[in-house]
Amino acid sequence: MKLTEPSTCLVDVDQGLMGDATGRYIKTVGDLAGLYADSGAFSTLQPNDIAYEVTEFRPPGGEGDLIFGVTRMAPGRVGDEFFLTRGHIHARADRPEIYYGQKGHGLMLMESPDGVTRTAEIGPQTICYVPPYWIHRSINLGNEDYVMMFSYPADAGQDYGIIERSGGMRVRIVDDGRGGWRSIDNPNYRARSAADAAGIVGLSSLAQSNTS
Ligand SMILES: [Fe+2]
Repeated sequence: MKLTEPSTCLVDVDQGLMGDATGRYIKTVGDLAGLYADSGAFSTLQPNDIAYEVTEFRPPGGEGDLIFGVTRMAPGRVGDEFFLTRGHIHARADRPEIYYGQKGHGLMLMESPDGVTRTAEIGPQTICYVPPYWIHRSINLGNEDYVMMFSYPADAGQDYGIIERSGGMRVRIVDDGRGGWRSIDNPNYRARSAADAAGIVGLSSLAQSNTS
């Protein structure tokens, strides 16, 4: 058996980038079309501006290994709604994730398959644990870049469609006009059926048992 070489990656907190990454990708404002409530406000934004970028390290191993990296989210609003990431549940939904705040101030918005919402505020040196089975999306609450380190199992994968299929997440996070945030219901949200919600948990458990 050939062992993977240990390595280190230096995080440039100011730039929101991780050195010695194996990959980097960018999501522009235009890539996030359809995610925000206020389409009129969205149309006034520059579609080629960077909304967020990720530098990551993907190890050669699969199951049991870890992917890690750094996300930098630009600040901004679409109407009164804060800039956000696309959000996902892990394709293997029983896989968790850790985030570690480095700079700025944001929110982890989480939703269970049966529509329970949880939020966690993250600032520098805050660790956020996203347990298995939670849909998760990051939101920049501040007026500066929001930078986090993340790590999740290498076999987790991402299912971005789960949010689209329900008409968005159950709540939206908007400016409260007093320097803070508040959560409002998303009227387009379509609750998953009990069977769908159970299926997300059940299929994932099945996938795990098939590979163990
Ligand atoms: Fe994730």
